[in-house]
Amino acid sequence: MTAATQAVVPPAGTARPPVLSIEGLSITYQTATPVHAVRDVSLELGRGEVLGLAGESGCGKSTLAYGATRLLKPPAEVTAGSVEFHSREGYALDVMRMDGEELRQFRWSKISMVFQGAMNSLNPVKKVRDQLDDVLTTHRPGMSKAQRRALCGELLERVGVDRNRLTAYPHELSGGMRQRVMIAMAMALDPQVMIMDEPTTALDVVVQREILREIARLRDELGFAVMFITHDLPLLLEISDRIAVMREGRVVELADALTLYTSPQHEYTRTLLSSFPSLTGERGGFVRHGSRAVPAGATTRHDAEHDTEEESA
Ligand SMILES: Nc1ncnc2c1ncn2[C@@H]1O[C@H](COP(=O)(O)OP(=O)(O)OP(=O)(O)O)[C@@H](O)[C@H]1O
Ligand SMILES: [Mg+2]
Repeated sequence: MTAATQAVVPPAGTARPPVLSIEGLSITYQTATPVHAVRDVSLELGRGEVLGLAGESGCGKSTLAYGATRLLKPPAEVTAGSVEFHSREGYALDVMRMDGEELRQFRWSKISMVFQGAMNSLNPVKKVRDQLDDVLTTHRPGMSKAQRRALCGELLERVGVDRNRLTAYPHELSGGMRQRVMIAMAMALDPQVMIMDEPTTALDVVVQREILREIARLRDELGFAVMFITHDLPLLLEISDRIAVMREGRVVELADALTLYTSPQHEYTRTLLSSFPSLTGERGGFVRHGSRAVPAGATTRHDAEHDTEEESA
């Protein structure tokens, strides 16, 4: 824990029961010269919380996310630590000890991930509906075809895509829409945690903002927690309850978003904040005036300028 966590404003999220507890996690890439990508990281993700993970390229954000979901492959090796998932049904799962089928189930139905390039991982020769349907067929074998059809439509509409797009192929959709489809897919099994690693970085700012608003709204509606990874700190300040700043594999600061912005404790956080000129401009004003989160249906000044614009990615 850093001094920042004892700041005057209690960090949002600490009052929430944890859904994911990462304890002393260390991950090394066992290459010729070993890379200690994650070093003794302890983080707790609260139920329904949006936890931002910031830090410069190469500081270990993705490695941490992959590690916590057991998606790492050699030469990556978890050298220490534990990850525990606390289900809303009241039991805890030791993520590091899971294997095979248990892990596969866990990944889709308890925790799901959306990656930066996710939109390009849709199968180009399969209609959107069939790809959503595959997830349901595999993980919800008890569902009838009619139920799956209905749910596929619902899932798509949830993320702001008309259900008539179910019959489209990925190439018939904009990048923004494809990324929304990926988010719909990640939500298909009602996970309790979504890990989003640069989910909108490849998209233009307008589409990015629209998608983030959807995610914030869905989080409020469905109650999942989000670990949101990006090096776009201004963006994190707006959408996160708390923010962890990583540097060289360690979490150097963890605080609620407003505290992190108004009284950063770590020199590196200050450097990171000052490297975003936008924080002293309009968005900085927005953050300073207090409503960092993007609540359900909320319209920030920035959004208002673009509300009428269409998907353009
Ligand atoms: N497969 C690999 N083999 C060896 N080293 C790796 C491998 N993948 C990542 N690394 C190293 O681990 C460190 C952390 O990488 P990671 O991808 O987690 O950073 P990141 O914070 O997600 O960066 P970015 O913001 O660019 O996505 C970096 O030094 C990187 O070079
Ligand atoms: Mg990364």
